[in-house]
Amino acid sequence: MLLLVVLFAAGQYQPWLWKLSALEHDSAGALLSHRLFLVCVWLVGASLIHQLLGVILVEGVSLRVLGKRPPKLMKDILGVAIFLMAGIGIARVVFAVPFTGFWAMSSVFGIILGLALRPIILDFFSGLGANLERAFDIGDWIAIEHRDGSHRGWIEQINWRTVRIRTRDGNILILPNSRLATSVITNYRLPRSVSRFGLRVKLELDTPTDRALRILNSAVNAAAARPGGPRKEPAPGVVISEVSAEGVEYWIRFWLNPAEESQDEVTHIVYQCVLVHLSKAGLSLAQPRESVFLARLPRASANALEERIQFLRRVDLFARFPEEPLRHLAGELRQRQTPRGQCLVRAGEPGESMFLLAEGVLSVQIGMRDGKTREVRVLNPGEFFGEISLLTGAPRSATVMAATDCVVFEIRRESLALLLEQQPELLEGLSEVMATRREADGLANSAPAETAMPGLSQAQVWLLRLRTFFALRNGD
Ligand code: CMP
Repeated sequence: MLLLVVLFAAGQYQPWLWKLSALEHDSAGALLSHRLFLVCVWLVGASLIHQLLGVILVEGVSLRVLGKRPPKLMKDILGVAIFLMAGIGIARVVFAVPFTGFWAMSSVFGIILGLALRPIILDFFSGLGANLERAFDIGDWIAIEHRDGSHRGWIEQINWRTVRIRTRDGNILILPNSRLATSVITNYRLPRSVSRFGLRVKLELDTPTDRALRILNSAVNAAAARPGGPRKEPAPGVVISEVSAEGVEYWIRFWLNPAEESQDEVTHIVYQCVLVHLSKAGLSLAQPRESVFLARLPRASANALEERIQFLRRVDLFARFPEEPLRHLAGELRQRQTPRGQCLVRAGEPGESMFLLAEGVLSVQIGMRDGKTREVRVLNPGEFFGEISLLTGAPRSATVMAATDCVVFEIRRESLALLLEQQPELLEGLSEVMATRREADGLANSAPAETAMPGLSQAQVWLLRLRTFFALRNGD
């Protein structure tokens, strides 16, 4: 603006300036200086309009109305249009180029420029197209699939020739707009910011599908409960995606916002949970193999007993027990299927048995002083519960509810008493777990610590109590 004022002021004194430089009014020098002066006025004016429109567009319209900065491309296009008009104005007004000559000249120049700058022009119009379509915006997380490869990242900047993409590897990827125009782009923000991802696992054909679905569902739900895992809502799930001679393929599907959570890390957590749940259930992934078995078909009941023995071996508590007591215990186990949401034991009720979780996820909840309930632990396959009431005769200390469809094995008091006679060291393992659990419940409820005995750990105190309890029961 200041420059424009100075130029106008100088214009007022032009005759005086010409005199001062001893130039004649109609001399070629005077004409040139006059034209130069006018060119300056046009350019400075165009620059002022560009600045003012830029401010109005950015501050007024874009920031206030749309709440975000316009892409740089828009400002660049505005600049090109204003200076192009200034150029035409200069040609017409200052150099008095006739319109016909002017158009003829500009079309020749246009063709030459067009041929020379073909790739740049292509980039420019591709960028313009993407901008008008509003296919993506600054900050969006996108995936670009091109025949040369695929890229993922956040849109950093949209320029008149390129788009800058920030990747999770900490790099900036600069892609020409024309390349984008021929790529398949997935914008994960649209129509909403959470998207579905998945992974596939193949299990043996002879694995019952309802069992596999239950285990995999539990695994992906357990992953959703872990920090950094997939979203709980929309709920994750599993479907069968393919059945072939090699096995049954299960498609584990879960949701996340890829702009905020790393897809690789979430997939990693889901895989981890899947592998843990499969191994606790004694299942492994389908393997390509070709074997011929010539054997008498085993009886179904014998098969079930073997499976239970194998399961007991995977429970830490019984892992090192000899074959005979385990076989006996396996025969005594009672299997129970519990649908999601059902309570297996309720706080305050008497209890005569303990349970081993074979499949699914359980939620352990305790009553708080303020009358509300709170989840203190999630139990996974291979863990047990209900031992406190069974071993001490006290009412149930917590409510245990099925967080997913579950399969549990019940151990009755008589079966455990027999096992304890044969394997008295079982009490040590049990008392350690009980001490940890009671301590966790006490902490959650801010209750005073259980009565301590000088020189003894909580686990040792529990062991003492259990031994006394069993001695009294057995009349020793
Ligand atoms: P019991 O008291 O017989 O019935 C409820 C069961 O919940 C209890 O035995 C334990 O097995 C289990 N339980 C209680 N508190 C916890 C805890 N903090 N962590 C894991 N399991 C628990």
